[in-house]
Order: sequence, then structure tokens, then C-alpha cells
Amino acid sequence: MRVLVTGGAGYVGSHTVLRLLGAGHDVVVVDDFSRGSPAALDRVEVLAGRPVPVHVFDGADIDALERLFDAEGFDAVLHLAGIKSPSARGVRPLDSYETNLGTTFTLLRCMAWYGVDRLVVSSSAAVYGEGRDLPHAEDTPLAPTGPVGRSHAMNEQILRDVVADAGPALRVGVVRHFSAAGAHASGTLGPDRTGASASLLTAVAEAAAGLRDGLEVHGDDHPTPDGTAMRDYVHVDDLAAGHVAALEVLDDADQQLSTWNLGGGRPTSVLELVRTFETVTGRAVPYRVTGRREGDVAVSYADPARAEAELGWRATRGLEDICLDLWRWHQRNPTGYPATLAPSAPWRGGVGHRLRLVSAVPSAAAW
Ligand SMILES: NC(=O)c1ccc[n+]([C@@H]2O[C@H](COP(=O)([O-])OP(=O)(O)OC[C@H]3O[C@@H](n4cnc5c(N)ncnc54)[C@H](O)[C@@H]3O)[C@@H](O)[C@H]2O)c1
Repeated sequence: MRVLVTGGAGYVGSHTVLRLLGAGHDVVVVDDFSRGSPAALDRVEVLAGRPVPVHVFDGADIDALERLFDAEGFDAVLHLAGIKSPSARGVRPLDSYETNLGTTFTLLRCMAWYGVDRLVVSSSAAVYGEGRDLPHAEDTPLAPTGPVGRSHAMNEQILRDVVADAGPALRVGVVRHFSAAGAHASGTLGPDRTGASASLLTAVAEAAAGLRDGLEVHGDDHPTPDGTAMRDYVHVDDLAAGHVAALEVLDDADQQLSTWNLGGGRPTSVLELVRTFETVTGRAVPYRVTGRREGDVAVSYADPARAEAELGWRATRGLEDICLDLWRWHQRNPTGYPATLAPSAPWRGGVGHRLRLVSAVPSAAAW
């Protein structure tokens, strides 16, 4: 298949592009590099031994996207461009809604205009919120607690409405990620965000390496066995494999729109994660407990049974592999990818005409 991947330079996107190439698909990436790095795609090219054409523009830019659809003749779209963390520096609620919804609108328009009828969209465990029933199964009522989770839930509703109105040819897969973690086993692809925007596991590694003044554990008074919040960590390369599986089963899926949880099915507390990291790396992780963050849920983990039955997918790597792979990545790339502002290959950036940097939005904006 000839697949457009939005957000292909990101954490999940880069691993997914590599998996798609490995499965024999042709890939074209759209990314505005607001968060992902051109260096990630350079490394994917080296690992895959194939070029990865990338067009640098805001996925919500309908003129640029239409030109790309016109030029490329896609069979399918894998939509990973989005804002995942409400706590990322400079991200305001309007940024999350604008990016996560705006890119979906333009993609659906272009797909309709150019007759592209296979779409896999990344959604999030955040759509479940606190949720009463654990583990979260796909039919659990959604109760997102913040703008990012709500934007994903809105995206899902938009897709259901569009599918209900479309002809039977349109096939959509929604994959609800649980907490992506770890890094590529080569140590060359991994999470780029460091410092204040780092994921929990990157913050653990930075604390172990002495690059931050200890790990902040947000709350030890949750209703969990050790009082710290529990999440379902799933290896990023397993997530990538899940996206490829979702794309490949779309034509044979029972429904026009299918939803799959991609999670390991096991909750891990912050302190359990810290202890596992210490055991497998031999490094101490200094930490201190601070207050809970607004909107943080106590426990979230997946019932992954549907993904196993319908996609033949299950998480193959556990917490120890996740910690080891992340530590290998961190030791080789302690500050993430090297800073590269310009696209580094000649075919890059041909269609786009606008580069928007979300993190550069003036902090003086009223909202
Ligand atoms: N990583 C997780 O734990 C997790 C969990 C749940 C859901 N998700 C969802 O999965 C998707 C990918 O997550 P990720 O961890 O790879 O995030 P990421 O931030 O590493 O990657 C997102 C990519 O999208 C690009 N992007 C953002 N806005 C864009 C725009 N308007 N136009 C073009 N490109 C744009 C960024 O530059 C980046 O390369 C997101 O939608 C996120 O909400 C991730």
C-alpha cells in the first residue's frame, strides 16, 4: 500500500514508519516538526535502507494537503499528527483542539475528494478518563478529563458520524494508545522530549543520569497499593506493530469503523516503574513526592482482548525490556535527537509552504 503517515517524525510515528517500510509498504510523511525531529526520519532511512519522503507543513493546511494527495495517489492514511500532552511546554487547550481536530478535518476532506478510503487514527487511553470499569474495554463509556483526551474523544465521534454517512467503501480504524514507552532496540529511535516535557520514563532516566534534580512523583495518595498512579506501559515498537496490523486488517474488519485498545493489559505504579528501572539498569533513581496534578487519573489500563482477537496483536515486551531499551536510547542520546532545523534531504519540503511551531506560540497569548 502507498501510505500517508501524518506525524511520522514523532515518537510513535517514526517507529511506525520503520515498521511500515519493513512490511513492504511505501510511505510518505507529513510533519511540521513542531515536536518530531528530522533526525528521526534520517535514522529510519538508515535502519530501513530506503528513503522516506517527507513534506513539511501543518497537516491542517488544506491547500498543501490537497496538492500532496493530488501528486501522490495514496491508498491509505495513518494519522498520528497531534498533541499528546497537556503539560507540554506552551501547549494551551486551544492548541490541542486546533491541532487534534483541525488535522482530522483536512485529512477527511482530502480523502473524500481523492477517493482514499482507508484510515487509521491514533486515539488515546485518555478518552476513558478515570472510568469506573477496569480494565478499560473499547465499549466502556468515555469520560475524558482534559483537553487532549476530549479532543481525541471528539475526533472519534466525528469519525463515527462521517462513517455513518459515507458509503461502505470507507474503512476506519481507531487505535487507543495506552502509555507509549521504551525505544527502538537499536538505540537510535526514541522519545525526543526532555526536560519539563519529558515522559515519565524519560524523567526517570534523566534522574538516574543526574541530569535532573530527582524525579517528581505526582501524588502518593491515590487509591492504589503504593499510593502512586498506575498506567499501562506499552513498548513503542509494539504500538508501531499494532498500527500496521490495524491498517492491514481494515478491508476484512467486520465493521466499517473498528476501535482497538493497544495496551499491555497490566497496570504499573510509578514506584514499581522506578524499582524495575533501578533493577535492570543498576542505577539509583532519586525521587521526591509532590502534589497530584489536576486531571491525573489514579489507574488506567487496557483490556487488549479485542486487539488480540481481531488484529492478532499483543504487547510482546514487558516493563524490563521497556526500561532497558529506554536506558540504551538515553545513554546514546541524553538530550534527544540532535537539533536540526532544516529538512536534511533534497526531496523534503517540496509541497509545504508553512511551518508552524506550536511551542513557539507567544506565551503572552490570552488563551
Ligand atoms: N505517546 C503516547 O504515550 C500516546 C498516548 C496516547 C495517544 N497518543 C497519540 O498518538 C499520536 C502520536 O503520539 P507521539 O507520542 O508520537 O507524539 P509526538 O509528539 O512524538 O509526535 C507527533 C508528531 O506529529 C507532528 N505534528 C503535530 N502537529 C502537527 C501538525 N499540525 N501538522 C503536522 N504534523 C504535526 C509533530 O511534529 C510530531 O512529529 C498523538 O496523536 C498522540 O495524542 C500518544
